[in-house]
Amino acid sequence: MSKIGLFYGTTTGKTEEAAVAIKDAFGGDLVTLVDVAQAEVSDLSDYQYIIIGCPTWNIGELQGDWEGLYEDLDDIDLSGKTVAYFGTGDQIGYADNFQDAMGILEEKITAQGGKTVGYTSTHGYEHSESKAVKDSKFVGLALDEDNQSDLSGDRIQAWVAQLKGEFGV
Ligand SMILES: Cc1cc2nc3c(=O)[nH]c(=O)nc-3n(C[C@H](O)[C@H](O)[C@H](O)COP(=O)(O)O)c2cc1C
Repeated sequence: MSKIGLFYGTTTGKTEEAAVAIKDAFGGDLVTLVDVAQAEVSDLSDYQYIIIGCPTWNIGELQGDWEGLYEDLDDIDLSGKTVAYFGTGDQIGYADNFQDAMGILEEKITAQGGKTVGYTSTHGYEHSESKAVKDSKFVGLALDEDNQSDLSGDRIQAWVAQLKGEFGV
């Protein structure tokens, strides 16, 4: 069992592609990828370090598979877990709800005891509002394959380097 479990949901594949790129950037067998369409909330308990990947759908909502797991998160104790978040979204088309899903999940998982790492700067984005922004930072890595796909590779490399330090792996 690897140390890091990366749990992602995806509807049109973009978040899955990002998940694979994040795993590759960690290198080796550090990261196990889990599509939440085939997962249960209790699977989170298997890992010391957790990465959560969720795109925002339907104007500020969780992606469908995450939606299905959301209420079950109430029943799990995540104290002692270190958790990082990433999302894919569209800052131009959904400027008032950019990456909301990442913020919704971060709030819930933090309430269940998870410790958030992997905050990033909002510099370089054009959205107006986001539930994923706390204290002027994104609570995780905000990817925008719809408008800034050319930036994703560098953003992922920089974030994974940051996480290696914060996870201590
Ligand atoms: C109907 C629809 C609603 C969307 N709503 C939002 C939104 O509220 N906020 C956001 O940041 N992106 C929104 N998006 C953009 C998606 O999050 C983005 O395309 C994402 O990369 C899709 O991820 P997936 O391919 O992994 O499912 C929306 C896209 C569609 C088609």
